[in-house]
Amino acid sequence: MYSEQVMDHFMNPRNVGEIENPDGVGEVGNARCGDIMKVFMKIENDIIVDVKFKTFGCGAAIATSSMSTELIKGKTVDEALRVTNKKVTEALGGLPPVKLHCSVLAEEAIKAAIEDYKNKQAEKQTADSI
Ligand code: FES
Repeated sequence: MYSEQVMDHFMNPRNVGEIENPDGVGEVGNARCGDIMKVFMKIENDIIVDVKFKTFGCGAAIATSSMSTELIKGKTVDEALRVTNKKVTEALGGLPPVKLHCSVLAEEAIKAAIEDYKNKQAEKQTADSI
């Protein structure tokens, strides 16, 4: 039912954990099942130099969280915003249709973390200009 890549990322998820003093944090819940993903980012000069996640969810949610953090690491924030759940699912060799909604969690958490980063940057700029 699950591809080898899904099983691999579920059994050995990459980038699990937290980052101290992150530049962006995003936390989202899946309305359909109540599962939660939290993502932490370290961003330097608009490049995601490190990313970690914590997902309280099903195997598909953990596998997509793991793969999506791998896909955005080292990328610019704009490139990361273009990593959709479809791309993550493709990189995992597909998901069963009933589990597709699980892949949305990672995409939304990444977007939320980047938004948090952008808000913090805007606040800093305002503070610097006063
Ligand atoms: Fe909740 Fe998969 S069942 S994210």
